[in-house]
Amino acid sequence: MIDDFSGRVVRWQRQQGRHDLPWQNSRDPYRVWLSEIMLQQTQVSTVLGYFDRFLQRFPDVAALAAASQDEVLGLWSGLGYYSRARNLHACAQQVAALHGGVFPRSAEVLCTLPGIGRSTAAAIAAFCFDERVAILDGNVKRVLTRALGQGADLAVAAHERALWDQATALLPGAGQAADMPAYTQGLMDLGATVCTTRKPACLLCPLQTVCRAAAEGDPERYPVRTRRLKRRAEQWWLLLALSPAGEVWLQQRPQKGIWAGLECLPVSDGACSDLLAALPAQAAVQDLAPFVHVLTHRDLHLHPVLWHAPVGGSPALAGRWVGADAWPVLGLPAPVRKLLESWAPQAQAATA
Ligand code: ADE
Ligand code: SF4
Repeated sequence: MIDDFSGRVVRWQRQQGRHDLPWQNSRDPYRVWLSEIMLQQTQVSTVLGYFDRFLQRFPDVAALAAASQDEVLGLWSGLGYYSRARNLHACAQQVAALHGGVFPRSAEVLCTLPGIGRSTAAAIAAFCFDERVAILDGNVKRVLTRALGQGADLAVAAHERALWDQATALLPGAGQAADMPAYTQGLMDLGATVCTTRKPACLLCPLQTVCRAAAEGDPERYPVRTRRLKRRAEQWWLLLALSPAGEVWLQQRPQKGIWAGLECLPVSDGACSDLLAALPAQAAVQDLAPFVHVLTHRDLHLHPVLWHAPVGGSPALAGRWVGADAWPVLGLPAPVRKLLESWAPQAQAATA
């Protein structure tokens, strides 16, 4: 074990870490939870504005629970990874329905809620309730494997479990529970700002004198993760139907699968002809430039097809016309938003 590991992290956080973020110095689990979910795949600078807008619209968990899913997805619009927003809403509803509107106070119970994994549960419990429980997100895995010189392959579940145990062993002692917020924030900040994936700044690191990876001279070889994601390519056709008034035809995606619950252009993942069959027989369509959208496990090759509907015409598909005053605030997949930004305003200008 490393000498005074937690003390080094805590002192560094108090002296060098961030203290001015709107969810810090807050012991309100609603704020801490909201910020942790937003920060999962998104930078602090992007989260700031969204966090303020969410709090303004939904000042507490009861307000969020009472909102419609459309409203939550709309306010999330632009943050991406919309499963986070759906889980956020479901979590608020569970807290309201099963916990009397009060967040549970232990990581063990917190991680039974939708969208709250083991590490997020631990972060909330540590920040709000001083619980001595370890976080282990991607940034912290990097710091710990390097500091410990832990080269076991984390794709192996037993090795990942062992790292959780080591993370638990490194926590501040039972008499230092009040250090848990600073310790937890310090590990996150070290991983985000000092012990970075490429070229970690070991000279600025409070662990430098005790770090195995720094002593070995090649920190970037940690963490070790051999698993290769098997990527698949899929071909998707998107119908970009524009009305003479510049509206676009949008439909809601199914609640399961890619872009679940989002508003979207009609999609065919089989053949373009599925979409063309929903248009009038003589419809003139234009193939727009295809592009690739990269998801975690697959590459979507997107083929947009543009159709200018005549007055009174509509695709024979589920959906409705949505004007340029309304679609920008809907929850839309990022590539669909990009398409609309380049095509829908032009259509509007052309008919103005
Ligand atoms: N990323 C995840 N949680 C965070 C936090 N509390 N502060 C800064 N970045 C984070
Ligand atoms: Fe990471 Fe370097 Fe600090 Fe070790 S000394 S924890 S490698 S930044």
